[in-house]
Order: sequence, then C-alpha cells, then structure tokens
Amino acid sequence: MRPGDAVGETGWLPLRAAARRVGGTWRATDRRVGAVPRAGLDKDPRDVAAMFDGVARRYDLTNTVLSFGQDRWWRRCTRIDVAAGPGERVLDLAAGTAVSTVELARGGAWCVAADFSLGMLRAGRHRKVPLVGADALALPFADGVFDAVTISFGLRNVADFDAALAELARVTRPGGRLVICEFSTPTWRPFRTVYLEYLMRALPEVARRVSSNPEAYVYLAESIRAWPDQPALAQRVAAAGWTDVDWRDLTGGIVALHRAVKPASC
Ligand SMILES: C[S@@+](CC[C@H](N)C(=O)[O-])C[C@H]1O[C@@H](n2cnc3c(N)ncnc32)[C@H](O)[C@@H]1O
Repeated sequence: MRPGDAVGETGWLPLRAAARRVGGTWRATDRRVGAVPRAGLDKDPRDVAAMFDGVARRYDLTNTVLSFGQDRWWRRCTRIDVAAGPGERVLDLAAGTAVSTVELARGGAWCVAADFSLGMLRAGRHRKVPLVGADALALPFADGVFDAVTISFGLRNVADFDAALAELARVTRPGGRLVICEFSTPTWRPFRTVYLEYLMRALPEVARRVSSNPEAYVYLAESIRAWPDQPALAQRVAAAGWTDVDWRDLTGGIVALHRAVKPASC
C-alpha cells in the first residue's frame, strides 16, 4: 500500500456478518466470508484495513463503552510515558481516528497521526492534528526524524509486527523513545480468568449493541488472547534493535505500556 491509497474504498471486500457462536463463545469465521482478519500471526493487511474502515464511525464510542471508560486513562498514561514536550516531534502510528494523537499533543509536542485505514483517519478529520495515510511496514518518513514514536492498540493488528518495530526504529532519532500501549495479560490469575470470560463471552455481546461492525470485536477478543504477554513482547522489542526495554501494567495488566530507547550509536 502507498500513502494516499484509498484502502477499503475500492470495493475490495464488502463487510458482512462473519461470526458464529461456538460453545457460548463468539468466533470470527474464515476471512473469505467477510473482511474480518484472522487473530493469529497470518493477518492479511487488506482485511485489517477494511475491518477498521467498517468500525470507524462508532470506534471511539465503542471503545469507551467496552473498556468502561478506562481507555481515557490508558491514553493519559501513554502521554505521560512518551513525555514529549514543546519542540519535539512525535509519530503516533496506527492512530486510527487520532483520539490517541490528540491526547499526546496535550504535552505540547508536534504530533502526527499515521494509519493505513483511510476510513479511520476520515472519522478523525475534525481533530486538529496532521493525519497521514501510511503503512507501518513502509513508513513515508525519512530516517531519524522523530524524537519519539508510539503505537496504541495498533501493533497487535500489524501483519509483521517485528518489521514494524524495526521501521519505527528507523524513523526515530538516536536516543529517541518508543512507547507501546497494548492489551496484555492480567498478572493475578483469578482476575485473568474473569477477564478472559469477559473477553470471549460478554464483549462480543455488548459490541453487537454499540458497534457498527460487531464481528470486528470477535477478532479483537481473539487477537488479545493470541498476543504475547509482557516479557515476551519486551523480548521482541529488544530483538528489533531497541534498548532499555521496560514495561508497566495498567488495570492489573489488561493493558501494558512498553517503553524503550533507540541506541545512541545507531
Ligand atoms: C485498534 S485501532 C487503534 C487506534 C488508536 N491508536 C487508538 O488508540 O484508538 C488499530 C489501528 O491500527 C491500524 N493498523 C493496523 N495495521 C496497520 C498498518 N500496517 N499500518 C498502519 N496502520 C495499521 C488500523 O487501521 C487501526 O486504525
């Protein structure tokens, strides 16, 4: 995909119901039935972009409902960890409707929202931040131009997230920061059990009432389950060339904020 490509508007795949119930749990059906990608590692980027085009209209509202308002707190914590101030340039990758970018910009830095779902970017066009159509695997930015890069609830959706981590490092200046805000694994076992029940049973039901494409939230639940836990993700970040990798848990580990620094010698 190239910057400016109209993903999801080219009539590539219509969105249709693509979920079935198995033993009381909602599961996404095969992607050929509709534009809902697989939750594992073999995601098709066109499915992902089309799926987000489909949820864009009510994306912000659905998030806030499904997270019981925690999304705002998670975004605030991300801004605090990015710690970008006036005079700095920040890339918010997979920014979607730019709700995450607006929060980052409150720190005073110049923040740009980049995403390959033009539907999501369009849903956020009223927000007063620059919006760029961009694929995480081939960013349309020169080397080392950002003081900090961040990605909220996006890395899990990228087809080759190791390559995206390396691409993020490429556009970050030596000594620059990375912050990843992503769903993770609750650390207290009883809480983890309750949370997984919510993810696989209640969340898809609630999404059916509030989302414009509830099937996408079946994918959400499955993709969270398939995602590496905190130490495993930290290892992948380090393997992509980042140093000083660290994380902190939010809401008992439902979300983790991973932080890292680009080596000064790069
Ligand atoms: C769950 S949304 C997160 C949006 C926003 N960051 C937030 O916190 O609300 C995930 C976003 O990742 C984007 N995305 C997934 N793969 C991408 C890729 N390869 N390049 C650019 N954006 C991508 C999707 O289009 C979608 O807008």
